[in-house]
Amino acid sequence: MRNPPVYLDYNATTPCDPKVVEAMLPFFTEQFGNAASRTHAYGWLAEEAVEEARAQLARVIGAEPLEIIFTSGATEAANLAIKGMFERASGPDKHIITLKTEHKAVLDCCRRVEEAGGTVTYLEVNAAGLPDVQELEAAIQPNTALIAAMYANNETGVIQPVKEIAGIAAKHGVPFFCDAVQAVGKIPVDVKEEGVDLLAFSAHKMYGPKGVGALYISRKLSGRKPVPQIEGGGHERGQRSGTLNVPGIVGFGKAAELAMAGMEAEFSRLKRLRDKLENALRRVEGSHVNGYSSPRLPHVCNISFEAVEGERLLLQLAKSLAVSSGSACSSVTQQPSHVLEAMGVPHRLAMSTLRLSLGRFTTEEEVDFAIGEIGKTIEILRQVRK
Ligand SMILES: Cc1ncc(COP(=O)(O)O)c(C=O)c1O
Repeated sequence: MRNPPVYLDYNATTPCDPKVVEAMLPFFTEQFGNAASRTHAYGWLAEEAVEEARAQLARVIGAEPLEIIFTSGATEAANLAIKGMFERASGPDKHIITLKTEHKAVLDCCRRVEEAGGTVTYLEVNAAGLPDVQELEAAIQPNTALIAAMYANNETGVIQPVKEIAGIAAKHGVPFFCDAVQAVGKIPVDVKEEGVDLLAFSAHKMYGPKGVGALYISRKLSGRKPVPQIEGGGHERGQRSGTLNVPGIVGFGKAAELAMAGMEAEFSRLKRLRDKLENALRRVEGSHVNGYSSPRLPHVCNISFEAVEGERLLLQLAKSLAVSSGSACSSVTQQPSHVLEAMGVPHRLAMSTLRLSLGRFTTEEEVDFAIGEIGKTIEILRQVRK
């Protein structure tokens, strides 16, 4: 038992940085104005704060402030990008290309597109979690309305060949949407350099509050922007109506600023801790790190263990560690992860997998503790099976 358990599930969500909370607080009380109120100082102050946050967010992804649209999170941003671009496209038999390893926020939108009469190509990935970009290019049709590929996988941390995909999309004049939830604030992301047209990111994965996210929409899409999915009031230049979550947006902006300032140092610190954890766990007999040979986020380790029952492992560990078996959204379904399945990980092994994700408040002592706990628990569970 360890109370509170050591938190190693930063890919599910991150705690708010105290500096983020501090920045948000005045916007709940004294500065509570509606950013859309044009006739008094309360509104002007709120609008000013929102615009400052928009600029902070634009900086973290190399965009211009006017290209940032606030949403309630990355799920909503993905819905706007995918359904909105599908609706925007003209002609019959509209088509979308995506990857089998995308987050449900993207895959479920693609299912909806299919229900609406569209077709979707779900590209395979190899054992390393990477798509074949030639296959992606070959899948493009004259009626392809969008390519949707994530920046870094939430379960394995595998970083996708974003620039290459963007290059292929641009060559064929197909808009490219990137779900960059797990990458923004952790590794450098530059939408202009990489050639991304639409990009979703979220505050609560980068030490900001829950319930606020953003969609970057490139100026280059002017006239071909996604059809709004939430209407009424014309906020966010008509792209997403609804009174803005001013405290949340201020917190999101502050979180982006902090992430940018500390990115390099945090990258090295987390990579060192992750490697220590991973190297120790790799010494456990019958362990396999998924995506090991691929470029990966520095703070994620996705590891499967032979001859242990995954559910029991998680249950035992929950007394002292907060870890997951995959994404927070699918860990309740007790299904093997669709990501590991797509990578060809055998069902039994996929069912006994831990996703360990470290973050800003992870200490060396916590990593040492986790190494001991996981090793010990696996040994006990294996003894019981004999
Ligand atoms: C890769 C990825 N995309 C999208 C989402 C959804 O983001 P949000 O919680 O902001 O809706 C998540 C969250 O788990 C994610 O990891």
